[in-house]
Amino acid sequence: MNKPAKRSANVSSQPWLHQHSAEVQKFGTVRQFPIALSVDARRYSCERLNQILADSQILYALYKKHHWLMRGATFYQLHLLLDKHAGEQNELIDAIAERVQTLGGVAVGDPRHVAEITRIDRAPNGAEEPPAMLSRLLEAHEAILIDAHDAAKRVGEMGDDGTNDLIVSEVIRTGELQCWFLAEHLVDTPLVRA
Ligand SMILES: [Fe+2]
Repeated sequence: MNKPAKRSANVSSQPWLHQHSAEVQKFGTVRQFPIALSVDARRYSCERLNQILADSQILYALYKKHHWLMRGATFYQLHLLLDKHAGEQNELIDAIAERVQTLGGVAVGDPRHVAEITRIDRAPNGAEEPPAMLSRLLEAHEAILIDAHDAAKRVGEMGDDGTNDLIVSEVIRTGELQCWFLAEHLVDTPLVRA
């Protein structure tokens, strides 16, 4: 009687490593999703969202940089505050990126791609004085807010209510609140005597 055939050499527990593929969707294109929004509206929203996404990723990185590089008498509270804001921006980044995907687009992800798209000024590689760090963060916030107000209005005009809502209720409101907390640290108040 013949022995049962050996299992095929192809059946194994070996992962198929080092796999590569061509791009299956180009950046800037949208797939067809049945969400009652035209291709033009979805493509336009993705373009505006990717700008906000790139700038928000830079803002997140600036928050972490300044969280690490903070110094001086208010080190501890600013160290904690900037990390809290970084965490909130990180959540925002995920929400924006997933909105791009929801619209059938491709979210900007690689930091080197982010650097090509962002309009936020580059910080020096070294450390600045704490008030300059805070001013830099405020300027990045305001650049995003200016863009976000315009983007919210225009995507709304094209019928993309969901993107309008995300930009208004998350990007703008979070940004405005974080600006308040930063700006209060730049008020020159006496520490001990009024
Ligand atoms: Fe930390």
